[in-house]
Order: sequence, then C-alpha cells, then structure tokens
Amino acid sequence: IHIVHVTAEMAPIAKVGGLGDVVTGLARSCMTRGHKVDVFLPFYECIDREQIEELKLIDTYSSYYDERWIETRLYGGVVLGIHVMFVEPLNDFFKGESVYGGSYDETEAYLFFSRACLEWLQVRGTEPDIIHVHEWQTGGLPLLYWDMYHYLSLKKSRIVLTIHNMEHYGECRQEQFSKCGLDGSVYATEEKAVDDRTIGHNPERLSLLKGGIVYSNAVVTVSPTYLKETLCSGWLAGTLIRHRDKYFGILNGIDTEIWNPATDAFLPAKFDAKKVEGKKQCKVYVQRGLGLDPEGDTDKVPLVVCITRLVAQKGLHLITNAIAYVNLLGGQMVVLGTAPDARVGREFEALAHSHNQGSNIRILLMYSEELSHMLYAAADIVLVPSVYEPCGLAQMIGMRYGAVPLVRKTGGLADTVFDVDDRLQPEMANGFVFEGIDEGSLNQAIDRAFSYYRQKAEEWRGLVKKVMEMDNSWNNTAGKYIDLYNSVRVRDQ
Ligand code: ADP
Ligand code: GLC
Repeated sequence: IHIVHVTAEMAPIAKVGGLGDVVTGLARSCMTRGHKVDVFLPFYECIDREQIEELKLIDTYSSYYDERWIETRLYGGVVLGIHVMFVEPLNDFFKGESVYGGSYDETEAYLFFSRACLEWLQVRGTEPDIIHVHEWQTGGLPLLYWDMYHYLSLKKSRIVLTIHNMEHYGECRQEQFSKCGLDGSVYATEEKAVDDRTIGHNPERLSLLKGGIVYSNAVVTVSPTYLKETLCSGWLAGTLIRHRDKYFGILNGIDTEIWNPATDAFLPAKFDAKKVEGKKQCKVYVQRGLGLDPEGDTDKVPLVVCITRLVAQKGLHLITNAIAYVNLLGGQMVVLGTAPDARVGREFEALAHSHNQGSNIRILLMYSEELSHMLYAAADIVLVPSVYEPCGLAQMIGMRYGAVPLVRKTGGLADTVFDVDDRLQPEMANGFVFEGIDEGSLNQAIDRAFSYYRQKAEEWRGLVKKVMEMDNSWNNTAGKYIDLYNSVRVRDQ
C-alpha cells in the first residue's frame, strides 16, 4: 500500500505532543511491513534543518489562497528513515519560533497546507492508495478532496482521519473556507444539514474536524475506551454516532527503537528487563544533576516524574496536588512541561520558585527531548493524572523504561494500565489506578504506590520487570491500521 500522511506534527523535528510520536512510529512500522510511506509536513521555520538528511528542493509550484496563487516550495528529505515532503509557502505561514502559535491565521494556514498537498499530488500525478490525515489541522483535506480533486486525477485515493483529541475541533468561518477556494456556504445551509453533509449550521462556526468525520472514508480514534467516551458525550457525539459504521478505536503504540533503554544515547547507563542495574545509575545521575537528595542505597525515596503539556486536559489541579503530597510523604518529584497558556505558566513558575531550592521537587518549564528520556529512565513512577486522555503515550514510554504508571482511569489510560490491587485480573496488573477527579482519590493511589515501593521491595522489582516486558509497541497495533487501509480500499471502490 502507498500511504501518505498529511500532518501538522512529526517527531522529533516538529513534535509538540503525542501526535508527532504517532505519525513517526506508525509510518516506520508500516514501512517495516513493506509498505510505502510519505509524510507531508509544513516546513515550519523552527524545524532544525540539521536533523533532516538528504534535504533538497523537489519542486516549486503555486497554490491558491485568497484570490492569489502563492508560490510554494516543496522540499524532500529523510527523517529517521521516513521520506518527508516539506511544504513551504512563500508568505508568512508557518513562520515563528514554535510549531504552533505563530502570528498567522492557523486555520487558513492549515487549509492552505492541505490544499497545497493535494495540489501537488494531483499535478504531479502521484496517486497514493491512502491519504491519512490527523486532527482538525488536516481535517479540511477530505472536504477539499471530495469537492475539488477526486474528479481530477486522484480517483483512487481513500482518506483515513485519525482524531487524537476531540477537544480541538478546528472552528472555521465560511470566509476562511472561501479563501482556500471552497464555497463555505455549501456547508452551512440547513438543507445540507439534513443529510449531515454539512459541517455545521452556523456559517461563523463551521468545524474542520466535523467535516473530516463526514467526508473521510474511515475515522479512527486512538483507543477503544476513548471511542466509547466520544460516542457518549461531547459536541461531536451525534455526528460520530451517525458515522458509527466507519468509526474505529485503534490503540496507539510506541516506537520501541526510539524509546529503548538498552540503546538510548541520551542515557548515562543502559538497561533492559533482564539487566536493570543501569536504571538505578540513571536515577542517581538525575538526582545529582538536578540537586535532589541522592538517597544512597536506601530505596526508600520513590522518584515520581510527570512529563506533559501543562493544559487542563492533563489534570493541572492533580499535578499541583501531587507535587505537594509527594513532598509531604518524603518522595521526590520532577515535572517537565510547557504551558501554552501564560496564566498556567505563571502559576507553575511560582511553584517552581517555591520548590526548586528544596531537595525533593523540581519543576522544569521547558521542552526537552533529551531530558524526557533521562527522566523516564530515572523514574520509579510515571504520573499521568489526566482529566481525559484519548490515548496517552507517557504511561507506555514510562513502562518501557521501568517506571510504574500511576494514572487516572480514563480513555487510553484505562486500556493500558491495570491496578495491582485489582483482584479480577491479576495477570494484567501493571500499575496504580484511581478514578475520582478529586485530590483525595489521587492521594490514596500515591499512598498505595509509596507503601508498595517502600514495603514490598521484591514485588516492586517484579513489577518493574513486568512493565518493561510489556509490549506496547506498534508491532501490536499497526496491523490494525493496515487492515483498515485494505478494507477501505476494497469497500469504497
Ligand atoms: P499529548 O499528546 O496529549 O501531549 P501523550 O502522552 O500522547 O500526550 O504524548 C506526549 C508526548 O510528548 C510524549 O512523548 C512526552 O514524552 C512528550 N512531552 C510532553 N511534554 C514534554 C516536554 N516538556 N519535553 C519533552 N517531551 C515532552
Ligand atoms: C493527543 C492526545 C493523547 C494521544 C496523542 C497521540 O495529543 O491528547 O492522549 O496519546 O494525541 O494520539
């Protein structure tokens, strides 16, 4: 199969969260299985060109935007073995210091990007079997495809949309559509609303994600539990129910070559499930490096890490509560995160200020791939207290590095972490799970985890080995995507 991903993120060169990891991991896994994969990515100004191999200009062409044709350059290169096409419009789109948050209109920029990708595929006659789009950013592509391109040469391609997070639905005004050459009014009429071919009723509030759901050949979300949750509540539940027959839940995997404690170049000592000693060295290295009290050989000071975007979804009140409670219990905790919201940023800066002189807590407000690898390796416990979590990769990465997960029971966390005290399925037990959204529920789980760590050293070692041996890799789940790609090809022809 020839698969083309059209995406706003790709690890490690343009990664903000799990979306970037998923695109890279899934692409590599499909390639290993003998399929051809290309990734289309905006050529963000912030991408470090040094990380791209064989970078070269492939083409210069024009793509439509706001009654003009914008000169657009297409570069090709290789990232972690994947062939990537970088789209660079010669206007201010995708300029800025970070992947998101530039001073251009993101809705228009991503609609332009989606159109520019189709434009190039169409003009140069490449006809992939599958065009795989992600999130609202490229959720407009299926619409553009059915309205403009499938009459032309891209007849064979089928479109798969993966929704990583239902909360961001890509609000779009009719006029923004028109700028990219689509008659937005078509999608905003009551008449069209009847058969659900509309993507919204209010011309001021159309949704690119809803359009993507309606116009894609298949829609995937990133865990079976999140699929159920999204059918029960939320603004798009009705649309998803209407399209239930083409809506699937496929659990993400992690790339076990990128995340491999036995070979990880970022780690001061390597380890795996059979030889775990290196993990202790990583812990001491991180404790020393961050000025935390090294505990010697006592094994009584569990190190908790939380590596996350600091946004409401991630349970901010629970994270701040954990900082205080872990401190109180004499454990250690390191938070590595960035806050897109300035107010949240200030709150965590204040917390960092009050704790970072002490010996138990470190709050690091930055994005660092390297530190994230070291922290997963050093951690005894990886904390993911999300309010909701479509899939969550942090708990899976943590497990790969021998960090026992402590999570809230929601979405993909509920599909991957099972409580050690759950007597119904002891063979699955691999962590600590709490359900409530209140501080008390979290504290109880921390209590249980800390006593286990401090009083059952032998069992804890067994648990560490067990989580490291679990297979949360794409080997397990990429096959489901391949089956889906194949069924979409057959079903819709
Ligand atoms: P989400 O996609 O909602 O952010 P996931 O758990 O799916 O959550 O994926 C988060 C990914 O981003 C993980 O690979 C995690 O290690 C990484 N990450 C999050 N914050 C940071 C940070 N500040 N520095 C480095 N990596 C981070
Ligand atoms: C989103 C979700 C996260 C998921 C990731 C990759 O960012 O918040 O739960 O793991 O996408 O699919």
